[in-house]
Amino acid sequence: MGRRSISWCLTGCSCPPCSHVRRVRLIGGRLLAWVKDASAGVAEGKNTNLIVTLKGGVMDVKKIVLPESELPRQWYNIAADMPTPMEPPLHPGTGKPVGPDDLAPIFPMPLILQEVSQERWIDIPEEVLKRYLMWRPTPLYRAYSLEKFLKTPARIYFKNEGVSPAGSHKPNTAIPQAYYNAISGTKRICTETGAGQWGSALAFACSQFGIECKVFMVKISYNQKPYRRMMMQTWGATCVASPSTETKAGQTILAQNPDSPGSLGIAISEAVEAAVTGKDSKYALGSVLNHVMLHQTVNGLEVQKQMAIAGDYPDVVIGCAGGGSNFAGCAFPFIRDKIHGKKVEIIAVEPTSCPTMTRGPFAYDFGDTVMMTPLLPMHTLGHGFVPEPIHAGGLRYHGMAPLVSQLILDGLITPIAVPQMETFQAGITFARTEGFISAPETDHAIAATIREAIKAREEGKEKVILFNWSGHGLVDMAAYDAYLSGKLADHALAEAEIQRALKEIDPLPKPKQYRPLRP
Ligand SMILES: Cc1ncc(COP(=O)(O)O)c(C=O)c1O
Repeated sequence: MGRRSISWCLTGCSCPPCSHVRRVRLIGGRLLAWVKDASAGVAEGKNTNLIVTLKGGVMDVKKIVLPESELPRQWYNIAADMPTPMEPPLHPGTGKPVGPDDLAPIFPMPLILQEVSQERWIDIPEEVLKRYLMWRPTPLYRAYSLEKFLKTPARIYFKNEGVSPAGSHKPNTAIPQAYYNAISGTKRICTETGAGQWGSALAFACSQFGIECKVFMVKISYNQKPYRRMMMQTWGATCVASPSTETKAGQTILAQNPDSPGSLGIAISEAVEAAVTGKDSKYALGSVLNHVMLHQTVNGLEVQKQMAIAGDYPDVVIGCAGGGSNFAGCAFPFIRDKIHGKKVEIIAVEPTSCPTMTRGPFAYDFGDTVMMTPLLPMHTLGHGFVPEPIHAGGLRYHGMAPLVSQLILDGLITPIAVPQMETFQAGITFARTEGFISAPETDHAIAATIREAIKAREEGKEKVILFNWSGHGLVDMAAYDAYLSGKLADHALAEAEIQRALKEIDPLPKPKQYRPLRP
């Protein structure tokens, strides 16, 4: 493709080259270029990224696409910058801090080392970079139509993680997890999945590295989202509904409640059991753990480059949070800035029917329902908590990533909860303005973004809002159908229900920073 640069005046004065324009690049003789020029009258006081057409018209840049050469080569490990050191996970049997050897039956050693690493920057292996290039860097969009619809002075940006093969951010960690397993001799990976996004991402990643993949999918989502199962099968994985009769954990739950809709906690129990009892098998988790947050930061590091090109810095960064990984991936590099004095508000959004961060205590709890995993210091609703079968299946988890939980305690993250109906309304508004149909999980981030944009309008403030568009909803249309045909409702979660679920964690050890139930 031929390239040349010409000077072109954006103010319409007739004597180019003049001082108004820095650079316009014509690509392939057709268009189009970025102009970053605060001195051009056209753009004064506004975002100055413009596209100039051949006829001299000016359009605002819609999306910022980094060249492949700008793909980050390292992940960012926020553990190196935490103001309060993390408390260790505890062994479920002994209650003592777990060491790498305790984790060896379930994870390959390179991932265990990342889990406990204090290194700020960790190199991304070449084989992982090669796979990332299948869809990364992902575009950063400016949501002009949404802004116009909301009549807000806010500038809204969203990072589109829905362009990956599986349609969400999940492959950012699925690929490195499959890679480190492959180089460690693993032949089969077992996992759980909620909405099916993680299961399909891992199925895709395992197919890239020739590893067998077994997925326990939460029953309610298995029934609501058959296409996710088909995607997993297309990539060569086996998928069963959880609770299943294949594991002791599943059998126990079914004996107590044959109609159990399942939960992520139950599916994790089944996957861990299948991994430790299977030959050459390991377990993989799609969220919550430190190494998962680490891998996801490839996203936020790209966003920082893209925001710099846009000439903006966010006042607010928003992500939905189930186990915390897409939120962390986008937000952690900005939290690093915040730790170093930058003013930026960081908002994590959860459903009101699974209010882990907003109503759960910070305590030690199991990551799964059947109490097989190490005890993690985190916000939790209790490992026995089974949330309402809302459509955002990926947000139906009783706990929250320890890193995210600790940063909430440190006042660096503001958690909020939004009800299901508001999230679908937000998803529909987004689809009818920006075009993309979002995953129901992602709709939570959109709902919070709309709240912030309306607040900016009411306060008359020119805020910059960034949110992580964690995935598309093209395989979630049954959820939109239920909403559009009036079949959905909000679920009010009774305090007594939380208290009941939390009773189970009463006897567990308490972290030094134990915080009881939030008001
Ligand atoms: C599209 C999408 N967004 C968000 C989530 C929530 O998970 P996490 O908090 O780990 O990003 C999920 C989980 O499945 C998901 O599929």
